[in-house]
Amino acid sequence: LTKQEVVNRILAGRKQKPGKAGRSFAAANIALCKYWGKRDDELNLPLTSSLSVSLRTKGTTTSLSVSERADEVLVSGEPLSPESPVHVRMRGYLDLFRPEPGLGFVVRTESNIPLAAGLASSASVFASVVLALDHLFGWKLQLPELSILARLGSGSACRSIHPGFVEWEAGRAADGMDSHAVPLPEQWPELRLGLLLLTTQAKPIGSRPAMKRTRETSVLYAAWPAQVEGDLRNLKEAIRDHDFERLGRTAEANALAMHATMISSWPPVLYWLPESVEAMRKIWALREGGLALYFTMDAGPNLKLLFQASDEARVAAEFPGLEVVAPFGGGSVKS
Ligand code: PMV
Repeated sequence: LTKQEVVNRILAGRKQKPGKAGRSFAAANIALCKYWGKRDDELNLPLTSSLSVSLRTKGTTTSLSVSERADEVLVSGEPLSPESPVHVRMRGYLDLFRPEPGLGFVVRTESNIPLAAGLASSASVFASVVLALDHLFGWKLQLPELSILARLGSGSACRSIHPGFVEWEAGRAADGMDSHAVPLPEQWPELRLGLLLLTTQAKPIGSRPAMKRTRETSVLYAAWPAQVEGDLRNLKEAIRDHDFERLGRTAEANALAMHATMISSWPPVLYWLPESVEAMRKIWALREGGLALYFTMDAGPNLKLLFQASDEARVAAEFPGLEVVAPFGGGSVKS
């Protein structure tokens, strides 16, 4: 099955006449149990389920309109060259939705989270594009359908359709109609995430080729599905019980296990910089000293810290410049 066939199924019988403009915000999401490895490269179908928390206020706003000219993509007001990888990828995605072959789109994205540094920004970009398309065409799609369309842009984007804790159910169907995000009902107002930006440098290899290489060459990858199964169970129970230590421990171990599969690939995939390792050691030392502080990491060198509102002042003092997010709002937060 191709992406276009999936899109045609979802849009069957829906309006194809665009309105004036569509505009939407989607939050970035941070996986506590990672998505790493696909069962279908074309449709971005994962081998395993994953679980994330949305960043509420941190993400991407996209405005969309149609035009008689070639596609224009503006990031923070700056037009991208048609040769840039982001433009090429966006064009390929928009091809799935053109009401007429000659028509182009004008896409303006504004993100309040650094792009391409492993801070999960492609997720909020594609999710906000899908929501803006729904708005522009007046489709009024259901949330699972929006999630599936976002997944076709970037796997993790399917989770950015919902706020709060979100599980992406891997599904089994070949067409991926059962592979979409589902929100978990639990709220956790005291939970905090800290974005520790060590570099804004673009990552050396994208998550797409890195995942493929891991799956094909890492001897450790065989152990990954069992790791995920246990971690998902632990995370759901930790969320249900508001057991922060269990949540943090599981998320950190899951991220390190994912990175272990990458490091054992050939050629090796190592996103860590010396600063990343230094931050890990600092977190471990603080934890040794009694602070309930954990981290997770994605396909990039930056870390995301996990802690509770009661420790916010201490964590902020240890990591100057840390951007603190309250995924469920609440408390004295700057986010
Ligand atoms: O959605 P992609 O293709 O950018 O992959 C994201 C993969 C990780 O961020 C490393 C893990 C995850 O679940 O978000």
